[in-house]
Amino acid sequence: MKAILISLAACLVTTAACADSLPANLRQMALDNFKPLPSTVPAVHDNPITPEKIALGKALFFDPRLSASGVFSCNSCHNLATGGDDNLETSIGHGWQKGPRNAPTALNAVFNEAQFWDGRAEDLKAQAKGPVQAGVEMANTPMQVVTTLNSMPQYVGWFRTAFPKDADPVTFDNMAKAIEAFEVTLLTPAPFDAYLNGDDDAMSDEQKQGMALFIEKGCSACHNGINVGGTGYYPFGLVEKPGAEVLPENDKGRFSVTHTADDSYVFRAAPLRNVAVTAPYFHSGKVWNLKQAVGIMGTAQLGEELNSQEVDQIVAFLDSLTGRMPDVALPLLPPETETTPRPDGAVRK
Ligand code: HEC
Ligand code: HEC
Repeated sequence: MKAILISLAACLVTTAACADSLPANLRQMALDNFKPLPSTVPAVHDNPITPEKIALGKALFFDPRLSASGVFSCNSCHNLATGGDDNLETSIGHGWQKGPRNAPTALNAVFNEAQFWDGRAEDLKAQAKGPVQAGVEMANTPMQVVTTLNSMPQYVGWFRTAFPKDADPVTFDNMAKAIEAFEVTLLTPAPFDAYLNGDDDAMSDEQKQGMALFIEKGCSACHNGINVGGTGYYPFGLVEKPGAEVLPENDKGRFSVTHTADDSYVFRAAPLRNVAVTAPYFHSGKVWNLKQAVGIMGTAQLGEELNSQEVDQIVAFLDSLTGRMPDVALPLLPPETETTPRPDGAVRK
């Protein structure tokens, strides 16, 4: 009792004494596992980023006319006002169909080693072609998209300035490249980055305790790098498979990409930036509470029951990954013309 009182008193006198239980080399430990966001927009493979391309990509990201119904834009499911996702269990797309997986955030996605929960798209430009054609998402065809864009002179002009060397710039490939250019600007620097960059006060002691635990317990063995995840594939349920209510049996993850038995129920370690604002969790979207998600990770991936203080501290750390959104002014989209294909309003039963 006396010892507790003494240490409490020491805490009240100086906060440094309270922080005593933090590893002295915490920043170095953090830098060995994580990297801060770069301060400038990163370069990407085979797609020089220019202001014109970014502006065009922003218009396309917000344009529901990329979908067959004229209802869904990228922003419908990756809402930049709500953390870059849709906060639904699994997304709702064309004809009110429910998709099979939870929508991950589009923020900072450029730093994922590959895109999607199973990593099936190698980069953002490859990724962007998927949803436009997916039957349960935007249900469109590349030809129809090109016809739609060509029907609006303003778009044709924007493609010309964004791709000045192309004789015929309005293509499905260039649509994807422009969207990628916009997406690489969606970076959200967080208190975590300020701490990594040397500002001791950017994170609270509880957040630092949580970060130390995250590293010491082994979370960072899978969730590391710039996005605190998004690189590397692991079985969901490495130690103990969660129940079918969290890990539905019909989604075998990376197995459908590689067709090797070892990849059954293997998923990309989720990138954790902004995770506090992107509930619900896991590819199934079945878990709405971040504390519960952290607890599940403890048992499923580490074989360890985390106690409530540990969970609170880790969640405090995860809060320090919530970053500042870049300013995104809503684009004014080109008006449709006589030749713009009309929306397909059919509702699939
Ligand atoms: C109907 C909802 C919906 C629409 C519309 C949609 N997405 Fe997605 N998006 C998803 C879902 C669900 C996933 C995860 C699918 C998977 O992993 O199999 C996803 C995955 C992604 C990812 C991968 C992120 C990561 O962490 O792996 C990016 C990037 C992305 N979408 C961008 C876009 C862009 C760009 C558009 C517009 C061209 C778009 N999405 C349209 C629902 C949608
Ligand atoms: C062996 C690798 C591994 C370890 C260790 C691990 N994770 Fe994960 N984590 C994953 C994978 C894979 C996923 C994606 C699961 C899925 O398919 O939904 C994930 C998902 C998550 C999610 C859900 C994110 C979202 O957007 O839905 C959180 C939160 C998380 N992990 C936190 C942690 C914490 C905290 C620890 C340590 C207690 C930890 N993880 C340990 C591999 C790991």
